[in-house]
Amino acid sequence: MSDDVRARLEERIAANRAGGGEARVSHQHEQGKLTARERIETFLDEGTFEEMDALVEHDCRDFGMARKRIPGDGVVGGHGRVDGRPVFVFAQDFTVFGGSLSAANAEKICKLMDLAMKVGAPVVGLNDSGGARIQEGVASLAGYADIFLRNTLASGVVPQISAIMGPCAGGAVYSPAITDFVLMVEGTSYMFVTGPEVIRTVTHEEVTKEKLGGAMTHNSVSGVAHFVTGTDAQCLAQIRRLLSYVPSNNSQRPPVVPTDDPLDREAPELDTLVPPDPNRPYDIKEVIRHVADDGDFLEVHEHYAKNLVVGFVRLGGRSVGVVANQPNHLAGTLDINASVKGARFVRFCDAFNIPLWIVEDVPGFLPGTAQEWGGIIRHGAKLLFALAEATVPKVTVITRKAYGGAYCVMGSKHIRTDVNLAFPTAEIAVMGPEGAVNILYRNEIQKAEDADAEHQRLVQGYQDKFANPFVAAERGYLDEVITPRRLRRKLVAAFAMLETKRDSMPTKKHGNIPL
Ligand code: HXC
Repeated sequence: MSDDVRARLEERIAANRAGGGEARVSHQHEQGKLTARERIETFLDEGTFEEMDALVEHDCRDFGMARKRIPGDGVVGGHGRVDGRPVFVFAQDFTVFGGSLSAANAEKICKLMDLAMKVGAPVVGLNDSGGARIQEGVASLAGYADIFLRNTLASGVVPQISAIMGPCAGGAVYSPAITDFVLMVEGTSYMFVTGPEVIRTVTHEEVTKEKLGGAMTHNSVSGVAHFVTGTDAQCLAQIRRLLSYVPSNNSQRPPVVPTDDPLDREAPELDTLVPPDPNRPYDIKEVIRHVADDGDFLEVHEHYAKNLVVGFVRLGGRSVGVVANQPNHLAGTLDINASVKGARFVRFCDAFNIPLWIVEDVPGFLPGTAQEWGGIIRHGAKLLFALAEATVPKVTVITRKAYGGAYCVMGSKHIRTDVNLAFPTAEIAVMGPEGAVNILYRNEIQKAEDADAEHQRLVQGYQDKFANPFVAAERGYLDEVITPRRLRRKLVAAFAMLETKRDSMPTKKHGNIPL
């Protein structure tokens, strides 16, 4: 190589590494944000980043852009390793044209995604962008659509994770929205289709960027985001943790993480966790943590639809997706948001060969006009559909209530759940005792001399008949009624037995989940 060629190469590489220059990099740091390159270095195993397309530049000639060209063109991308496993990553560089998406920059992302699909590795996108590169017009929009197509084709083939680490506005939000998990950094990230200015003009509403589309808004109100973190570094660490539970692609199984936690460990606390009073709440996460390897639970969507808890644990080193009613919130009822949250999580697990553990304590669907008019019928059906179609190993544990349609939905035997267990405190019935008695014995109660006493007597009778797991166990709808303290060993045994499970769906193009 001649000195001249070497010098030209080095000059371009230096220009690529400098990004938008010192001032813009300092500004990025002042806002508490890392640069695109720093984010990638922090995210990947040390020294494993192999950059692709570092020398790509845009070819826009309008608005004086011919004079403004920076190698890399506002996105840093390539591949590296996370816990030794290959991962593709791109990071929008806000210091270069505000991280805006040009045609060239979109081609870089698409090339990386195409390669990730061929080798079967996850794609992680670190978003920090002013959106479509305004100077390029429709070429930039085409770039977005090219990415959306690839997000869609890759869905269910390789895991896709999006971190929002700055602005993400307009149609640009739809790439993260298609991906499997969205993380946001508190205080520095926001997402919206139309910003506060447009909203003010069109609807005369006054709203700040943070309230409209900040991290907590999307984690607790809209459900668009699954995780919120305090800093860039925490966000990147959280993606690594998330990846540790999932396989690299849909033809693999999740990685096994050895544990010293004994497989037959008993948890005596579980024997007394479910309160004797059926109306008293308790924290279902305690059941999950008492059972999981080393008490470790990675909760997904922690702040959204808290009446249903979803997330990942390991049992005997193997990943398991947990879907659990939460009696501590709305008495554990299923509502629209909880149903959609659960359905999406179940479909992720099923797509990526992650077995499902359903923990059930559900008094039914949440009543009310807001729910009915909001379409609880359609949305509740999503959770039912998702659990019924899932072919991964499925194990359900009923801790207390399993009432009505919610009994059918929450991993009942009838929707091909493989192993169904119950605590002795389980109550399986068409509905709660009060409601049932009011319908069955309305006349008798009205005619009784002491209506209250008669009502109470009938409620007791109904409870004696149905508020237990034995009727279901007699029919084989439950495989076993277990001592709660032995739950961990029972689950480990069930999932070990199911490891070679094979099941499938009838041949079809795709089902029609009620969206
Ligand atoms: C080109 C852009 C840009 C864009 C920002 N920049 N957004 N360049 N196209 N979309 C440039 C700025 O000119 C500036 O360049 C640098 O990036 C930093 O931007 P600032 O405005 O100085 O930063 P800040 O004050 O932090 O504000 C960030 C921002 C703002 C809120 C994101 O830049 C902004 O409103 N940008 C436009 C957002 C937008 O409307 N985008 C189009 C959305 S529609 P200099 O040289 O001065 O440093 C869309 C459609 C996608 O994206 C459709 C897909 C289907």
